[in-house]
Amino acid sequence: MPSTETVAEPLVSLRDLHLSFASNPVLKGIDLDVYRGQAVSIIGPSGSGKSTILRCITGLLQPQRGCIRVGATEVHTLAKEAQRIELRKRVGFVFQQYNLFPHLSVLENLVIAPRKVLGRSRVDAEKDARALLAKVRMEHKADAYPGQLSGGQQQRVAIARALTMRPELILFDEVTSALDPETVGEVLTVIRELTEEGMTCVLVTHEMRFAEEISDIVYFTENGVIVEHGSAAQIFQNPTSERTQEFLRHALGDPGRRPVIAHDPYLLTNLSRYSLSV
Ligand SMILES: Nc1ncnc2c1ncn2[C@@H]1O[C@H](COP(=O)(O)OP(=O)(O)OP(=O)(O)O)[C@@H](O)[C@H]1O
Ligand SMILES: [Mg+2]
Repeated sequence: MPSTETVAEPLVSLRDLHLSFASNPVLKGIDLDVYRGQAVSIIGPSGSGKSTILRCITGLLQPQRGCIRVGATEVHTLAKEAQRIELRKRVGFVFQQYNLFPHLSVLENLVIAPRKVLGRSRVDAEKDARALLAKVRMEHKADAYPGQLSGGQQQRVAIARALTMRPELILFDEVTSALDPETVGEVLTVIRELTEEGMTCVLVTHEMRFAEEISDIVYFTENGVIVEHGSAAQIFQNPTSERTQEFLRHALGDPGRRPVIAHDPYLLTNLSRYSLSV
Protein backbone atom coordinates (compact mmCIF):
# COMPACT_ATOMS: atom_id res chain seq x y z
CA MET A 1 0.00 0.00 0.00
CA PRO A 2 1.23 3.52 -0.74
CA SER A 3 2.37 5.79 2.04
CA THR A 4 -0.41 7.45 4.00
CA GLU A 5 1.89 10.30 4.95
CA THR A 6 0.17 13.54 4.09
CA VAL A 7 0.93 17.21 3.87
CA ALA A 8 -1.34 19.81 5.41
CA GLU A 9 -3.15 20.87 2.22
CA PRO A 10 -5.13 18.34 0.23
CA LEU A 11 -4.48 18.34 -3.52
CA VAL A 12 -8.22 17.94 -4.15
CA SER A 13 -10.82 19.28 -1.82
CA LEU A 14 -14.59 19.14 -2.26
CA ARG A 15 -16.80 21.01 0.19
CA ASP A 16 -20.58 20.80 0.50
CA LEU A 17 -21.04 19.94 -3.16
CA HIS A 18 -24.64 20.06 -4.37
CA LEU A 19 -25.58 19.18 -7.92
CA SER A 20 -28.97 18.52 -9.53
CA PHE A 21 -29.88 17.44 -13.03
CA ALA A 22 -33.08 19.43 -13.64
CA SER A 23 -35.13 18.71 -10.52
CA ASN A 24 -33.19 15.54 -9.67
CA PRO A 25 -30.71 16.15 -6.83
CA VAL A 26 -27.72 13.88 -7.42
CA LEU A 27 -25.06 15.25 -5.07
CA LYS A 28 -26.36 16.46 -1.71
CA GLY A 29 -23.45 17.90 0.21
CA ILE A 30 -20.28 16.01 -0.71
CA ASP A 31 -17.07 16.61 1.30
CA LEU A 32 -13.99 14.80 0.06
CA ASP A 33 -10.22 15.29 0.33
CA VAL A 34 -7.40 13.74 -1.63
CA TYR A 35 -3.83 14.33 -0.47
CA ARG A 36 -0.81 14.11 -2.74
CA GLY A 37 0.34 10.56 -3.22
CA GLN A 38 -2.89 9.04 -1.95
CA ALA A 39 -5.07 6.49 -3.65
CA VAL A 40 -8.68 7.27 -2.79
CA SER A 41 -11.52 4.97 -3.82
CA ILE A 42 -15.17 5.88 -4.10
CA ILE A 43 -17.48 2.92 -3.79
CA GLY A 44 -21.25 2.71 -3.64
CA PRO A 45 -24.38 1.54 -5.43
CA SER A 46 -25.13 2.36 -9.03
CA GLY A 47 -26.58 5.86 -9.41
CA SER A 48 -25.19 7.07 -6.08
CA GLY A 49 -23.23 9.89 -7.75
CA LYS A 50 -19.69 8.48 -8.05
CA SER A 51 -19.08 9.45 -11.69
CA THR A 52 -20.72 12.80 -11.08
CA ILE A 53 -18.17 13.53 -8.35
CA LEU A 54 -15.30 12.76 -10.74
CA ARG A 55 -16.81 14.95 -13.45
CA CYS A 56 -17.05 17.82 -10.97
CA ILE A 57 -13.35 17.45 -10.13
CA THR A 58 -12.42 17.89 -13.79
CA GLY A 59 -14.81 20.78 -14.32
CA LEU A 60 -16.93 18.78 -16.76
CA LEU A 61 -19.94 19.44 -14.51
CA GLN A 62 -20.66 22.58 -12.52
CA PRO A 63 -22.29 22.12 -9.12
CA GLN A 64 -25.07 24.50 -8.08
CA ARG A 65 -23.47 24.90 -4.66
CA GLY A 66 -20.19 24.14 -2.93
CA CYS A 67 -16.47 24.42 -3.55
CA ILE A 68 -14.06 22.33 -5.61
CA ARG A 69 -10.36 23.00 -5.35
CA VAL A 70 -7.60 21.22 -7.28
CA GLY A 71 -4.22 22.55 -6.22
CA ALA A 72 -4.52 26.32 -6.40
CA THR A 73 -7.47 26.19 -8.84
CA GLU A 74 -10.94 27.00 -7.53
CA VAL A 75 -12.72 24.80 -10.05
CA HIS A 76 -16.26 25.93 -9.15
CA THR A 77 -15.37 29.50 -10.14
CA LEU A 78 -14.04 28.67 -13.62
CA ALA A 79 -16.29 30.44 -16.09
CA LYS A 80 -14.48 29.86 -19.37
CA GLU A 81 -14.00 26.62 -21.24
CA ALA A 82 -10.36 27.60 -21.85
CA GLN A 83 -9.80 27.62 -18.08
CA ARG A 84 -11.35 24.18 -17.74
CA ILE A 85 -9.15 22.88 -20.54
CA GLU A 86 -6.14 24.17 -18.59
CA LEU A 87 -7.39 22.22 -15.58
CA ARG A 88 -7.82 19.05 -17.63
CA LYS A 89 -4.20 19.21 -18.68
CA ARG A 90 -3.37 18.59 -15.02
CA VAL A 91 -6.03 16.00 -14.25
CA GLY A 92 -5.97 12.71 -16.14
CA PHE A 93 -9.32 10.98 -16.59
CA VAL A 94 -9.64 7.37 -17.70
CA PHE A 95 -13.12 6.03 -18.40
CA GLN A 96 -14.75 2.67 -18.89
CA GLN A 97 -14.72 3.37 -22.64
CA TYR A 98 -11.13 3.88 -23.67
CA ASN A 99 -11.95 6.37 -26.47
CA LEU A 100 -8.70 5.91 -28.34
CA PHE A 101 -8.59 7.44 -31.82
CA PRO A 102 -9.29 4.40 -34.04
CA HIS A 103 -7.55 5.85 -37.10
CA LEU A 104 -4.28 6.51 -35.24
CA SER A 105 -1.65 3.98 -34.23
CA VAL A 106 -1.05 3.36 -30.53
CA LEU A 107 2.05 5.55 -30.65
CA GLU A 108 0.22 8.38 -32.42
CA ASN A 109 -2.59 8.19 -29.85
CA LEU A 110 0.02 8.99 -27.22
CA VAL A 111 1.91 11.63 -29.17
CA ILE A 112 -0.98 13.79 -30.34
CA ALA A 113 -1.98 15.59 -27.12
CA PRO A 114 1.53 16.42 -25.85
CA ARG A 115 2.31 17.80 -29.33
CA LYS A 116 -0.89 19.80 -29.81
CA VAL A 117 -1.72 20.79 -26.26
CA LEU A 118 1.68 21.02 -24.59
CA GLY A 119 3.60 22.03 -27.73
CA ARG A 120 6.25 19.36 -27.26
CA SER A 121 8.56 18.35 -30.10
CA ARG A 122 7.87 15.10 -31.94
CA VAL A 123 11.15 13.60 -30.77
CA ASP A 124 10.40 14.36 -27.11
CA ALA A 125 6.76 13.33 -27.30
CA GLU A 126 7.66 10.07 -29.01
CA LYS A 127 10.40 9.26 -26.54
CA ASP A 128 7.99 9.82 -23.65
CA ALA A 129 5.26 7.83 -25.38
CA ARG A 130 7.53 4.82 -25.87
CA ALA A 131 8.65 4.94 -22.24
CA LEU A 132 5.04 5.05 -21.07
CA LEU A 133 4.07 2.20 -23.40
CA ALA A 134 6.86 0.17 -21.82
CA LYS A 135 5.53 1.05 -18.38
CA VAL A 136 2.11 -0.42 -19.25
CA ARG A 137 3.80 -3.30 -21.12
CA MET A 138 2.49 -2.25 -24.51
CA GLU A 139 5.68 -1.18 -26.26
CA HIS A 140 5.39 -4.12 -28.65
CA LYS A 141 2.09 -2.69 -29.95
CA ALA A 142 3.29 0.85 -30.67
CA ASP A 143 2.48 0.52 -34.38
CA ALA A 144 -0.80 -1.37 -33.97
CA TYR A 145 -4.20 0.29 -34.27
CA PRO A 146 -6.70 0.26 -31.38
CA GLY A 147 -9.02 -2.10 -33.27
CA GLN A 148 -6.26 -4.72 -33.30
CA LEU A 149 -5.97 -4.77 -29.48
CA SER A 150 -7.89 -6.52 -26.73
CA GLY A 151 -10.00 -4.43 -24.36
CA GLY A 152 -7.39 -4.72 -21.60
CA GLN A 153 -4.62 -3.69 -23.99
CA GLN A 154 -6.64 -0.68 -25.16
CA GLN A 155 -7.29 0.32 -21.58
CA ARG A 156 -3.58 0.13 -20.76
CA VAL A 157 -2.88 2.36 -23.77
CA ALA A 158 -5.57 4.76 -22.51
CA ILE A 159 -3.83 4.92 -19.13
CA ALA A 160 -0.48 5.56 -20.83
CA ARG A 161 -2.14 8.27 -22.91
CA ALA A 162 -3.41 9.98 -19.75
CA LEU A 163 0.12 9.84 -18.34
CA THR A 164 1.62 11.57 -21.38
CA MET A 165 0.19 14.82 -20.04
CA ARG A 166 2.15 14.32 -16.78
CA PRO A 167 -0.97 14.92 -14.72
CA GLU A 168 -0.94 15.84 -11.05
CA LEU A 169 -3.61 13.27 -10.44
CA ILE A 170 -5.55 10.63 -12.35
CA LEU A 171 -9.21 9.78 -12.01
CA PHE A 172 -10.26 6.25 -12.95
CA ASP A 173 -13.96 5.64 -13.53
CA GLU A 174 -14.71 1.92 -13.59
CA VAL A 175 -11.91 1.28 -16.02
CA THR A 176 -12.25 -2.49 -15.81
CA SER A 177 -16.00 -2.95 -15.92
CA ALA A 178 -16.20 -3.35 -19.71
CA LEU A 179 -13.32 -5.86 -19.83
CA ASP A 180 -13.22 -9.62 -20.10
CA PRO A 181 -12.35 -11.17 -16.74
CA GLU A 182 -9.01 -12.41 -18.17
CA THR A 183 -7.83 -8.88 -18.95
CA VAL A 184 -9.03 -7.13 -15.78
CA GLY A 185 -5.91 -8.15 -13.85
CA GLU A 186 -3.43 -6.65 -16.30
CA VAL A 187 -5.14 -3.25 -16.02
CA LEU A 188 -5.36 -3.45 -12.23
CA THR A 189 -1.65 -4.30 -12.11
CA VAL A 190 -0.86 -1.08 -14.00
CA ILE A 191 -3.02 0.99 -11.65
CA ARG A 192 -1.48 -0.65 -8.61
CA GLU A 193 2.02 0.17 -9.87
CA LEU A 194 1.02 3.81 -10.37
CA THR A 195 -0.26 4.06 -6.81
CA GLU A 196 2.90 2.41 -5.51
CA GLU A 197 4.95 5.01 -7.36
CA GLY A 198 3.02 7.70 -5.51
CA MET A 199 0.70 8.87 -8.30
CA THR A 200 -2.31 10.56 -6.77
CA CYS A 201 -5.35 8.57 -7.87
CA VAL A 202 -9.08 8.65 -7.35
CA LEU A 203 -10.76 5.42 -8.32
CA VAL A 204 -14.40 4.67 -8.79
CA THR A 205 -14.53 0.93 -8.86
CA HIS A 206 -16.65 -2.13 -8.35
CA GLU A 207 -13.49 -4.18 -7.79
CA MET A 208 -13.88 -4.26 -4.03
CA ARG A 209 -10.85 -6.42 -3.29
CA PHE A 210 -8.69 -4.17 -5.37
CA ALA A 211 -10.05 -1.04 -3.67
CA GLU A 212 -9.35 -2.60 -0.29
CA GLU A 213 -5.83 -3.53 -1.26
CA ILE A 214 -4.58 -0.33 -2.86
CA SER A 215 -6.59 2.48 -1.25
CA ASP A 216 -5.39 4.76 1.49
CA ILE A 217 -8.87 6.16 1.98
CA VAL A 218 -12.26 4.78 0.89
CA TYR A 219 -15.46 6.80 0.56
CA PHE A 220 -18.81 5.02 0.53
CA THR A 221 -21.53 6.96 -1.29
CA GLU A 222 -25.21 6.35 -1.41
CA ASN A 223 -27.95 8.46 -2.86
CA GLY A 224 -25.78 11.53 -3.32
CA VAL A 225 -24.18 11.62 0.14
CA ILE A 226 -20.99 10.24 1.67
CA VAL A 227 -22.30 7.73 4.16
CA GLU A 228 -18.86 7.17 5.66
CA HIS A 229 -15.20 7.30 4.83
CA GLY A 230 -12.02 6.05 6.42
CA SER A 231 -8.96 3.93 5.85
CA ALA A 232 -9.44 0.89 3.63
CA ALA A 233 -9.02 -1.34 6.68
CA GLN A 234 -11.68 0.54 8.62
CA ILE A 235 -14.24 0.65 5.81
CA PHE A 236 -13.78 -2.94 4.68
CA GLN A 237 -13.15 -4.63 8.00
CA ASN A 238 -15.01 -2.46 10.47
CA PRO A 239 -17.59 -0.25 8.74
CA THR A 240 -19.69 1.74 11.18
CA SER A 241 -22.73 2.43 9.02
CA GLU A 242 -25.30 -0.30 8.56
CA ARG A 243 -25.66 0.73 4.93
CA THR A 244 -21.94 0.27 4.30
CA GLN A 245 -22.07 -3.11 6.02
CA GLU A 246 -25.01 -4.19 3.89
CA PHE A 247 -23.41 -2.95 0.68
CA LEU A 248 -20.14 -4.74 1.41
CA ARG A 249 -21.91 -7.92 2.46
CA HIS A 250 -23.64 -7.93 -0.89
CA ALA A 251 -20.54 -6.92 -2.87
CA LEU A 252 -18.06 -9.20 -1.13
CA GLY A 253 -20.16 -12.21 -0.24
CA ASP A 254 -19.30 -14.31 2.76
CA PRO A 255 -16.40 -12.66 4.62
CA GLY A 256 -15.37 -16.08 5.91
CA ARG A 257 -14.22 -16.97 2.40
CA ARG A 258 -12.13 -13.90 1.68
CA PRO A 259 -9.20 -14.67 -0.58
CA VAL A 260 -5.71 -13.51 0.23
CA ILE A 261 -4.56 -10.90 -2.26
CA ALA A 262 -0.99 -11.49 -3.34
CA HIS A 263 1.19 -9.14 -5.37
CA ASP A 264 1.13 -11.56 -8.21
CA PRO A 265 -0.21 -10.56 -11.62
CA TYR A 266 -1.47 -14.08 -12.20
CA LEU A 267 -3.57 -13.96 -9.06
CA LEU A 268 -4.78 -10.51 -9.99
CA THR A 269 -6.21 -11.83 -13.22
CA ASN A 270 -8.61 -13.81 -11.09
CA LEU A 271 -9.71 -10.85 -8.99
CA SER A 272 -12.76 -9.99 -11.00
CA ARG A 273 -14.68 -13.03 -9.86
CA TYR A 274 -14.72 -11.49 -6.41
CA SER A 275 -16.20 -8.26 -7.65
CA LEU A 276 -19.80 -7.47 -8.27
CA SER A 277 -21.57 -4.65 -9.96
CA VAL A 278 -24.24 -3.61 -7.53
N1 LIG B 1 -26.08 13.99 -17.70
C1 LIG B 1 -27.04 13.58 -16.86
N2 LIG B 1 -28.29 14.04 -16.98
C2 LIG B 1 -29.27 13.67 -16.12
N3 LIG B 1 -29.08 12.82 -15.08
C3 LIG B 1 -27.85 12.31 -14.93
C4 LIG B 1 -26.77 12.67 -15.80
N4 LIG B 1 -25.66 12.01 -15.39
C5 LIG B 1 -26.01 11.29 -14.31
N5 LIG B 1 -27.33 11.47 -14.03
C6 LIG B 1 -28.06 10.85 -12.92
O1 LIG B 1 -27.35 11.15 -11.74
C7 LIG B 1 -27.36 10.05 -10.85
C8 LIG B 1 -25.94 9.70 -10.47
O2 LIG B 1 -25.26 9.25 -11.63
P1 LIG B 1 -23.75 8.78 -11.61
O3 LIG B 1 -23.41 8.45 -13.01
O4 LIG B 1 -22.93 9.78 -10.91
O5 LIG B 1 -23.86 7.46 -10.72
P2 LIG B 1 -22.75 6.36 -10.40
O6 LIG B 1 -22.66 6.26 -8.92
O7 LIG B 1 -21.52 6.68 -11.15
O8 LIG B 1 -23.43 5.04 -10.97
P3 LIG B 1 -22.77 3.76 -11.72
O9 LIG B 1 -22.14 2.93 -10.63
O10 LIG B 1 -23.95 3.08 -12.33
O11 LIG B 1 -21.79 4.27 -12.74
C9 LIG B 1 -28.11 8.94 -11.56
O12 LIG B 1 -29.43 8.92 -11.08
C10 LIG B 1 -28.07 9.35 -13.01
O13 LIG B 1 -29.20 8.89 -13.68
MG1 LIG C 1 -20.52 5.77 -12.75
